[in-house]
Amino acid sequence: MTDPYRSTADPLGTWHRLADDLVLLDGFHALKHAVRFHARVPVAVTTDRRAALALADELAPDVREVLEALLTEVPEERYRALVPRPHPTAVAALAERPSREDQLEALRRMPRTAPVIVLDNPRNLGNAGAVIRLAAGFGATGVVTTGTLDPWHPTVVRGGAGLHFATAVERLSVAELPPGPMFALDPEGDDIRALKLPDDAVLAFGSERTGLSADLRARADHLVSLPMRPQVSSYNLATSVAMTLYHWSATGGAPA
Ligand SMILES: C[S@@+](CC[C@H](N)C(=O)[O-])C[C@H]1O[C@@H](n2cnc3c(N)ncnc32)[C@H](O)[C@@H]1O
Repeated sequence: MTDPYRSTADPLGTWHRLADDLVLLDGFHALKHAVRFHARVPVAVTTDRRAALALADELAPDVREVLEALLTEVPEERYRALVPRPHPTAVAALAERPSREDQLEALRRMPRTAPVIVLDNPRNLGNAGAVIRLAAGFGATGVVTTGTLDPWHPTVVRGGAGLHFATAVERLSVAELPPGPMFALDPEGDDIRALKLPDDAVLAFGSERTGLSADLRARADHLVSLPMRPQVSSYNLATSVAMTLYHWSATGGAPA
């Protein structure tokens, strides 16, 4: 079989030609997950190929062959010039972003076998990355953000450990959100423990600063709360998504 992932003779030239249009994969884990979930990765560099392949032997034998064909060693100063913040694994790569059309189709397809997560105007890039990682782990259909944060920002991709390629990630307006019964998480809602969340649910979470927007509340079918002791105002956004997805899985939802 022809390997579609080939090292190029001029990886840095390829990098500079493609960098503006592709997604930065920062670190070994992001590259490993992207390859594992079938991202197209035209170029990958490291300052220490032997160390990167040792990591592959240890952590990713399933994609080791692809990484071996892909990774090119470059001098440290050249690597540092390519990334905003050097990663401890000294690996970086560029990947093609999945087509928006395909992602929207996946998000809107019904019947749905796992929920869509909506982050309503999230502000923190690290939170968004952590939520995408959770969605990938629980096999959620996807993560949709509203507002100005770019869910494919390099810091989000780094926080998500490259797991954007294991779920569908897009930014939409509230009016464009995927179909399905919407359960919006809010400390004033009904206790989640009394509910079974359906597989076709849209699970919506508010902004770190201001909670759920008026538009989102108007679209919601149910307001749902996570158990929390009085005097505590709220949980962290990503933590709230984790508890909600866990509740969905513990009451019958995937994963196996
Ligand atoms: C950090 S909180 C937002 C706090 C914000 N200051 C507010 O006024 O709501 C981010 C989001 O996490 C979810 N969340 C946090 N704690 C929750 C709880 N106890 N029950 C339900 N949802 C919660 C909600 O969706 C909330 O909008």
